[in-house]
Amino acid sequence: MEGVILVTGAAGFIGFHLVQRLLKDGCDVVGIDNLNEYYDIQLKKDRLKLLNENNNFAFHKVDIKEKKAVDHIFETYRPTYVINLAAQAGVRYSIENPYAYVDSNLVGFVNILEACRRYPVKHLIYASSSSVYGGNKVSPFSTGHNVDHPVSLYAATKKANELLAHTYSHLFGIPTTGLRFFTVYGPWGRPDMAYFSFTKDILSGKPIKVFNHGKMERDFTYIDDIVDGIVKLIDKIPMPNKNWDETKDGISTSFAPYKIYNIGNNNPVPLMNFINALESVLGKVAKKVYLDMQPGDVLKTYADISDLERDINFKPSTSIEEGLRKFVDWYKEYYKAEV
Ligand SMILES: NC(=O)c1ccc[n+]([C@@H]2O[C@H](COP(=O)([O-])OP(=O)(O)OC[C@H]3O[C@@H](n4cnc5c(N)ncnc54)[C@H](O)[C@@H]3O)[C@@H](O)[C@H]2O)c1
Repeated sequence: MEGVILVTGAAGFIGFHLVQRLLKDGCDVVGIDNLNEYYDIQLKKDRLKLLNENNNFAFHKVDIKEKKAVDHIFETYRPTYVINLAAQAGVRYSIENPYAYVDSNLVGFVNILEACRRYPVKHLIYASSSSVYGGNKVSPFSTGHNVDHPVSLYAATKKANELLAHTYSHLFGIPTTGLRFFTVYGPWGRPDMAYFSFTKDILSGKPIKVFNHGKMERDFTYIDDIVDGIVKLIDKIPMPNKNWDETKDGISTSFAPYKIYNIGNNNPVPLMNFINALESVLGKVAKKVYLDMQPGDVLKTYADISDLERDINFKPSTSIEEGLRKFVDWYKEYYKAEV
């Protein structure tokens, strides 16, 4: 890949792994992140410390909701590619903290789009989410399905990102690809996600909270598989289809240079099987407290990834057992935890 790649949210879980991989591939990467305190900021700083060891990486503490600061980064580096991962993540947090989502996911995203308009880029890839499928019942979830029934503000902001991206692709010819991630897990992961807090609680003998009495399924996707997909997509620049017809071509493409993909494992795992796998890797049985479904949650996620298979030969290859083993190995090493 020629030119600078700008990664927003570079100190985050997916951003960190993506930047590591891009640097390994010899790319020039600029990372920005506001290092907010949504979860342990030390973890973000430690990720950055590793990235900063590479001279091809430049980091700037920037909040994407600040237009001037975003423009300054684009003016200085003139990125060829932009990968926008900075966002306020988390479904449950959005019920109590709506404006964190408005600031980062709506205002921040418009600032990125406006900067791409002013300083043209070859390709803008941005994070959407499986949560856009909201109350949909038909699975596997397909990008051909309607996603007009979000059940959390987080999901609504991600769906809004896709709409905003389409408008900018159409009006200003900015090629955009939106990625609907499905429950990404792995080393250096997010402490607010269940697999992380389960590990912490099981190791310290505290009971884990099992929502909806365990009757949930998630299409858990290992981080290396996700990063592989993103990297392959960088040069897969969506083309406008002048003869676009939604009845034949589907709603994930357009007359504009716009594309939406699911990026998941295509293999939903019942929550209890996931917990069993984690117990087996940890060699310890969890104490469990069974609770009702939480507001904003969905029962099942399951990605139809046929577009991604067709376009970039995407084949996630990490089993839950292998992925959890790698996560637990990292966790024990990082937190010096005893099993
Ligand atoms: N991890 C998953 O399972 C998952 C699933 C679906 C979608 N996503 C999306 O993928 C992206 C990356 O997720 P992640 O798991 O790495 O989350 P993360 O929280 O670890 O990473 C996001 C990073 O963005 C930064 N950030 C937040 N708001 C910012 C702002 N206004 N300006 C600058 N930086 C800001 C945070 O400090 C954080 O380091 C997010 O957009 C998220 O919504 C993730």
